Amino acid sequence: MPITPPTCADKNNAMRLRIPYNELSALLPKDPGLAAHCRRVAGLATEIASALPLPGRAMPVLEQAALLHHNPSLLFGDAAMERILHDLLPQGGWKEPSRATHSPRALPEDLIALLTAFQAFPRPCADRNTRAASEILAVANFLDEHIEFSAWDCNTLANLSDVIDDLSGLIQPAIREALRKAFRSSRFTLDTGRLPVQIGVIKELLGILAQSASMEVQALAAVASRDPVISARLVHAANSGLYGGRSTIRSVRQAVAHLGIDASRRLLLALAVHPIFASANLRSIWQHSVWMAEFLESFARRQNLLDPEEALFLGLVHDIGRLATQAVPQSVGALFARLTTSNCPVTYVEQLVLGSDHAELGAAILSLFHVPEHIVEAVRFHHRPAASDSLLASALYLGEFASECEEDLPSTPHLRAALANTQCSFESLSELCRKRATSFAAILNVA
Ligand SMILES: [Fe+2]
Ligand SMILES: [Fe+2]
Ligand SMILES: [Fe+2]
Repeated sequence: MPITPPTCADKNNAMRLRIPYNELSALLPKDPGLAAHCRRVAGLATEIASALPLPGRAMPVLEQAALLHHNPSLLFGDAAMERILHDLLPQGGWKEPSRATHSPRALPEDLIALLTAFQAFPRPCADRNTRAASEILAVANFLDEHIEFSAWDCNTLANLSDVIDDLSGLIQPAIREALRKAFRSSRFTLDTGRLPVQIGVIKELLGILAQSASMEVQALAAVASRDPVISARLVHAANSGLYGGRSTIRSVRQAVAHLGIDASRRLLLALAVHPIFASANLRSIWQHSVWMAEFLESFARRQNLLDPEEALFLGLVHDIGRLATQAVPQSVGALFARLTTSNCPVTYVEQLVLGSDHAELGAAILSLFHVPEHIVEAVRFHHRPAASDSLLASALYLGEFASECEEDLPSTPHLRAALANTQCSFESLSELCRKRATSFAAILNVA
């Protein structure tokens, strides 16, 4: 359906700044990937415009232009052609068409002007504010396409400054500065003192569990008893109906004997890692990590590629780098929230704002725990398996994909590489997701 610019007679439409929500959603691209791109571009453009700042009246126009910048009617429809003819033909050579030939829907004039200037970019537009808004829209579009492309090759968004420099000469210096100011305001350096947990006890427990694969009941009970909270939760889990308990177990030693060595080790691993994600705003990450732990353990048994206990641990800690977002200043946290609302996946926001993502930061944190290097590497590449030889990174990527948590932009090359590395077919992956039980999550909830 073609979209028309407002005529002089259509004063109500010409005066309005916003398209009503129901009309706007009907104009969004039907392709989900393209619609997601438009939402992200709107989010980026709003941040850049706020850093300029653009006059408040221009903000809703910019946001809506970003959402509609792939609308084919605007690009190739009658309205666009009329606008071009109006601009190109000598004065008086363009006759306004009769309203009968058009749809009743008319876009606000400012919006049409901005989209026209965006299509003409980098040719500058005469109106100062429209020119600034069209450059912001072009930059936001370029930035999102650049990050999308990086998801398809093996790179992260390494250096935003290089991207900004590439735009020199095409945009005004003020827009370039606004772009710098809007993002990368907080290049992240890991400060272990600001992590929301004391890592000493956890490090010790994990170290002991990692060193001795075979342990007697007595030795394992001694490990569990090092932390009173972990001891209590282990006894509580042993008494739960899930392990056939009858509320008669009163000591860690009895709990380990009742649960068995393997189940006790699994539970101890999870209980050792849980305090890292104990705060209320990390609860959803913990639930996802438990899901991943179960998935990876099943995957390990099925594909016979990795040790199930190692897989379990890897699942529990794979997103430990997301602790970093707990340590950023409040203003950066608010920026994270706004971009996430605009459909930007978490790795996208982290790269843009922190210059690193939770995979890199997680590898740095795990190095502090002195976990084996292959685990650190798996976490480092768990969103870019095609860039690594790590089988564990590929297994983690498949888990992230299967969990549908959408922590990164979709990438066929990475998915193909992960499936090939782990010798897993897409059908096997789907079947594994269907069969997996959730007993571990249930046990942890009662522990
Ligand atoms: Fe675009
Ligand atoms: Fe994850
Ligand atoms: Fe992740």
